[in-house]
Amino acid sequence: MPKLKILVTRRWPEAVEAALHKKYDVTLNTSDGALSQDDFRIALSAYDAILPTVTDKIGSKVFDVKKPRTRILGNYGVGYSHIDMTSAKAVGIVVSNTPDVLSNCTADIAITLMLMTARRAGEGEREVRRGNWTGWRPTHLVGTQMTGKTLGIIGFGRIGREVAKRAHYGFNMKIVVQNRSKIKSEVLIKTNARQLNSINDLLDVSDFISIHCPGGDENRHLFSSKQFERMKNSAILINTARGEVVDDDALVAALHEKKIRAVGLDVFNGEPNIHAGLMDYENAVLLPHLGSATQETREAMGFRVLDNLDDFFGGKEPRDRVV
Ligand code: DGY
Repeated sequence: MPKLKILVTRRWPEAVEAALHKKYDVTLNTSDGALSQDDFRIALSAYDAILPTVTDKIGSKVFDVKKPRTRILGNYGVGYSHIDMTSAKAVGIVVSNTPDVLSNCTADIAITLMLMTARRAGEGEREVRRGNWTGWRPTHLVGTQMTGKTLGIIGFGRIGREVAKRAHYGFNMKIVVQNRSKIKSEVLIKTNARQLNSINDLLDVSDFISIHCPGGDENRHLFSSKQFERMKNSAILINTARGEVVDDDALVAALHEKKIRAVGLDVFNGEPNIHAGLMDYENAVLLPHLGSATQETREAMGFRVLDNLDDFFGGKEPRDRVV
């Protein structure tokens, strides 16, 4: 039997590409540039599976194909707000993602951003590299400490819980959480966390706020002017989830009006473009979507996609099916 045809939309870690080649007839995107909507529409008629990533915007038009050959989109990543799920479902295409394997790594980057913003690490590094450091002094680049402060976590899923562990056990932080559904007390107790009824309740008490909810329309601009108004002026916002959760115009205005102390972002609206206003603020720490960027995690993500493919084509329910 001929091998099934698979399109991999970006370069993957070598070990996973090699494993894919063994089982499937794989087409790699050797230029490693993002594919267009048209590329995807054409691919839908040519491949049995497509393995996209967050940089692939797969909107409703892509699915406007008479009889798609593609039966599964094996997304390389946990978030899938870049794929129009309603349309995928309507044409009977299964979608899977890669949960679990990147929770530790993404929690680490959230903590990195908390430390960088609180301790003004980006500012300090830029000062040294520009040759502007004039030496130690008691009032130089004074930040704020994380230890003992209150961390508000929006979305208490796998990644949010890993952030809570690090903050509670590493920094003795008090944890409050906001989540759509009720979190079981045996989960909360692990980090002595308290679930609050509303985002407003969380904004009232938090010194740090870390976003871990899904992106997409349901959470678009969850953080806008009203929320920045409500946050403590000394509070720090961290976003490692999806850019659309934060309203950039409102964020830049909040930085300008000193409504918040700082912001740490690993994700952006319209990546890789960044709201120009953010560049003006030393207290904005900006990372290029590094949440899952370790060798171990990127390999684990790839092998997880492979598991899902093998299940699906082997006639089983893919373990991480989302649609
Ligand atoms: C994820 O897995 O969702 C990361 O943000 C990369 O897409």
